[in-house]
Amino acid sequence: MTRIMPLKLGVLASGRGSNFEALQESIEAGAVPAVIKVVIADKPQAPVLEKAAARGIESCYINPGQFAGRQAYEQELARVCVEYGVELVVLAGYMGILGDTFINKFPLRVINIHPALLPSFSGLHAHRQAIEYGVRFSGCTVHFVDLGVDTGPIILQQTVPVLPEDDEDSLAERILREEHILLPQAVKLIAQGRVAVEGRRVTILAEEEN
Ligand code: GAR
Repeated sequence: MTRIMPLKLGVLASGRGSNFEALQESIEAGAVPAVIKVVIADKPQAPVLEKAAARGIESCYINPGQFAGRQAYEQELARVCVEYGVELVVLAGYMGILGDTFINKFPLRVINIHPALLPSFSGLHAHRQAIEYGVRFSGCTVHFVDLGVDTGPIILQQTVPVLPEDDEDSLAERILREEHILLPQAVKLIAQGRVAVEGRRVTILAEEEN
């Protein structure tokens, strides 16, 4: 069934926020039927906070260190998301790891963008890992978040070549350009109700004809 209401998003980020901006621009352009209700950062100086404010989107910093443990931090994260009516949580450069306290509250409702072709080069320093391994192609992946690190069902992937002269920065830049297309595309598909998950396998359903 076609959704009429825009999908309510919560964005979690730790830094620069270029994926947040790309997503918000796609929404503003009318390409993605969604609305970002809140941006949450786990770093006080994260530029994403200012970027959200500049676009009139509510944002907050939640300090993981102020809580007794990870569970209490995740409870607070979940509480804020629920407060804003968030239906899909988008990790856009969020460098923390979320455990079952958060993930189990949003089953198949948390997605992440990773700068490599998973399951290769998960975790930190994905670009460095790809260059050091010597792969000819890398890329980016949007996947559902489960309780592993970058292990959840894959929604979309895009390849980019790794060139002989690449360093981490040049590869990161080439991949980032694709991330800015892939993440809004994945959110769009979910918002349109076109993403079906069976075990590890994700099927993208055809667009409904109106
Ligand atoms: C992006 O390249 C994203 O894929 C990566 O961090 C960058 C954030 O950039 N995420 C991860 O590595 C998650 N493990 P941004 O803040 O400009 O969107």
